Amino acid sequence: MTAEFISKLPKAELHLHIEGSLEPELMFELAERNKIKLPYASIEEVRAAYEFDDLQSFLDIYYAGAGVLLQMQDFFDLTWAYITRVQKQNVQHVEIFFDPQTHTDRGVPFRTVITGIHKALLEAEEKYGMTSRLILCFLRHLSEDAALKTLEDALPFRGWITGVGLDSSEVGFPPENFERVFARASAEGFRKVAHAGEEGPPEYIWQALDLLGVSRIDHGVRCLEDQKLVERLVQENMPLTVCPLSNTKLRVFEKMEDHNLKQMLDAGLCVTINSDDPAYFGGYMNENFLAVQKGLQLSQQEIVEIAKNGFRASYLPQEEIESHLQSIDDFVAGEITSS
Ligand code: HPA
Ligand code: ZN
Repeated sequence: MTAEFISKLPKAELHLHIEGSLEPELMFELAERNKIKLPYASIEEVRAAYEFDDLQSFLDIYYAGAGVLLQMQDFFDLTWAYITRVQKQNVQHVEIFFDPQTHTDRGVPFRTVITGIHKALLEAEEKYGMTSRLILCFLRHLSEDAALKTLEDALPFRGWITGVGLDSSEVGFPPENFERVFARASAEGFRKVAHAGEEGPPEYIWQALDLLGVSRIDHGVRCLEDQKLVERLVQENMPLTVCPLSNTKLRVFEKMEDHNLKQMLDAGLCVTINSDDPAYFGGYMNENFLAVQKGLQLSQQEIVEIAKNGFRASYLPQEEIESHLQSIDDFVAGEITSS
């Protein structure tokens, strides 16, 4: 299978932190515009700093980078840069995470953050027909009270937000700490997802399911350590938003050949492929698909099934999901007749 096939295949991205799409070039541009001093002398120096040992070593740099985002226009430019990149990769639907606490804790109003992102998403639909959803993530290294306050901030904008999620440092910050805020979000009609089983144990995935009531697990790669959990995830057809380049960059797996994505597929799990923080991990959707296809020798049929899972696991209405699945079938049929 060729890189061209992967590139042309219609795709949906379900695990993307918008702050993680901040490329060094834009970081420098925004630092200059906002008169912020960066601890790096050049764009090359920034890229050279992107060598990580684990999740925390990445998060330290990721939160520092987000410090250049101040004005509504900055959040618009950030989001628009991501949209134009993935539009060229035939990504047709995106569900984007944002971390309001990273910004409100620096004095940037919630409204500034969400309005800039929302405007870019509206333009993506108008200009490219790209659909989207927005998911607000609570930072799990902060308190549940801080998360509850953030949920309050979000309520005036509930029409722009589809769901809530849980991200940041995982080990030592279990889902059970956030049971109340997820219950509240659920009562307000939000969908629920959580990062679980990236670095944390299978127990955190159980908690995300049983205590938070999530309808997708972000990462979830450590589920294979617990057979009962795998059975549960298969039985419920629970989607897992796997991020291959993120996992190798953060040393969850030493190299792509060691990734367990194929074992997950073989176990019958609903696996999707996503980029997580593409500016930091060396690739957007196509690069993730290609790296894992090559590393694990995935067949064309497996790649197509994973792309379909991206739409099936999305929060689009059923008829739009069906229409995307049909366009994937049409694309594949066209490839077969033309080859
Ligand atoms: N894990 C947890 N928090 C994050 C990540 C991730 O992969 N990316 C951005 N915030
Ligand atoms: Zn993530």
